[in-house]
Amino acid sequence: MNNTAPIGIMDSGVGGLTLVRELVKLCPGEDIVYLGDSANCPYGNRAQEDIFALALSMLRFLQQKGSKVAAIACNTISALAEPLALQVDIPLLGIVSPVAEAVTQSGLDQVGVFATEFTISTQIYTRLIQAHNPRLKIYGKGSHLLASLVDSGASEARIEEEIKTELGALLAHEPLDHVILGCTHFPIVEDIFQRCFPDVTFLNPAKEQAKAVISFLREPQTANHQEKGRLSIYTSGNAEPYRSVLARLGITECCDIATVSL
Ligand code: DGL
Repeated sequence: MNNTAPIGIMDSGVGGLTLVRELVKLCPGEDIVYLGDSANCPYGNRAQEDIFALALSMLRFLQQKGSKVAAIACNTISALAEPLALQVDIPLLGIVSPVAEAVTQSGLDQVGVFATEFTISTQIYTRLIQAHNPRLKIYGKGSHLLASLVDSGASEARIEEEIKTELGALLAHEPLDHVILGCTHFPIVEDIFQRCFPDVTFLNPAKEQAKAVISFLREPQTANHQEKGRLSIYTSGNAEPYRSVLARLGITECCDIATVSL
């Protein structure tokens, strides 16, 4: 592995930019190749075979770009990380395991997970958290629409309405004080979540995934120590939502946004 090779990051759309924000802070020297499959977003309402095939095309793209590791900045795809790893010749780092481990070390005895319908249906959070602590209770809720509303740049009012209805339904049932935003599109609008539910602490899994990427780079000594890395963004969809999410997340790295077909 080559330390000047880029870190590959993939998501169904703009959600993985939440991981880019954390990595730019923690390891500014790394070059990043980002791929968002917005033409096929949302993944979270699709059948498993579809998600698997789409994710495999993305991994092959990141591999062709010479990535030293592929960070799956998508909870939905991370639920399939094990079978995907058998198909490609590049190390994969999913987003669910690092936050699951952190939650089990947090001392919480219950936590909510708000994610896509697919992620909730796989029970990936329940399995990975309860593997460490079988007594920790997990309350999951899927949203059919929120990821696509965020990916397409819907109005704040529409996004707020969706959050209030969908997460409100879970919180009306279970008064939780910690909720994992288990879809990377959701922390992009964390301020809206916080406004709707001011007493809830929201956990952003990209923060733990970024630490996992750093530890991975440390092990085989593949970190890039140049002063400032380059961010290159590729999408199968429209570039405009990427520009507005970059601005919303405060990612000021100058970058190219290219359109690709997968
Ligand atoms: N951002 C993705 C996730 O973390 C999925 C959004 C979607 O395409 O449904 O699950």
